[in-house]
Amino acid sequence: MSNNPNFQPLNLLEYESLASQHLSQMAFDYYASGAWDEVTLRDNRAAFDQFRLRPKMLVDVSKRNLTTTILGHILQFPLLIAPMAFQCLANPEGELATARAAAKAGVGMILSTLATKSIEEVAQASLNSSPSPLNWFQLYIHRDRGLTQALIERASSAGYKALCLTVDAPLLGRRERDQRNHFSLPSGMQLANISSSGLGISHSDTESDLFTYFAYQLDPSITWKDLEWVQSISPLPLVLKGILRADDAVRAVEAGAKAIIVSNHGGRQLDGAIASLNALSEVVDAVAGSVDVLVD
Ligand SMILES: Cc1cc2nc3c(=O)[nH]c(=O)nc-3n(C[C@H](O)[C@H](O)[C@H](O)COP(=O)(O)O)c2cc1C
Repeated sequence: MSNNPNFQPLNLLEYESLASQHLSQMAFDYYASGAWDEVTLRDNRAAFDQFRLRPKMLVDVSKRNLTTTILGHILQFPLLIAPMAFQCLANPEGELATARAAAKAGVGMILSTLATKSIEEVAQASLNSSPSPLNWFQLYIHRDRGLTQALIERASSAGYKALCLTVDAPLLGRRERDQRNHFSLPSGMQLANISSSGLGISHSDTESDLFTYFAYQLDPSITWKDLEWVQSISPLPLVLKGILRADDAVRAVEAGAKAIIVSNHGGRQLDGAIASLNALSEVVDAVAGSVDVLVD
């Protein structure tokens, strides 16, 4: 594959294989790894591999339509690109390229708090796209509530359509590959949305810089009651990312969430957590159509 300069990847696994040849070990491992023994990372994949369809025959498929509506916004294809931090590790255009590609394909994009391009730059990148882009902002609640509030206000002012609060990462999952590589951002690359503090500010010789960032900057004490605070300062619809159980899904709806993302963070947080696909039907049944449900 690598010897042919004209090789065109046809599927995501081929992109992953190419990435392993082009990225530094540290960047590739950051993108590809899961927490601890990576059991949940493998389970996520296995759950999709084991899922079987029961196709219905003799249906007129001469016209096909994959459009869907999410929080009132029409998507050409039922997909939003999950929030992923540090996209400049893969390409200097980073999150700007992702935003342009998402808009061109008519799918949505969720921008990570830990992006390497700013909220405003990313909004600008897809500003004049047609159909109009669907950008959501993913929030991590920091110990510094002023910083957190400023992120919400900036996302709202820049036209993001929803606030996606990640609830499965009060502490960072122990990612052994990152720890072994002493994961850190190359010089010149930074957390574009966080001016007051950055990765590496509390550098440790034994941990990845991301692990240390979470430990010192993010608030591990957040509970359901903090959703009231978030909603009191945010004009955007709230999406909860990281729900894996029916009771939490019901609580999310009661707390005002307008959509739920069934997710275990790609196996990067709690190793041993249920594969998100296997938790999907429980959540869908529990919310009974009252909110939109996504899965990753
Ligand atoms: C490289 C990488 C970085 C990620 N960064 C974030 C992040 O900043 N915030 C977040 O909520 N989830 C983050 N995630 C988790 C993803 O949003 C998503 O839940 C996970 O990758 C599973 O979805 P997928 O199967 O579409 O990759 C990250 C995942 C990857 C692979």
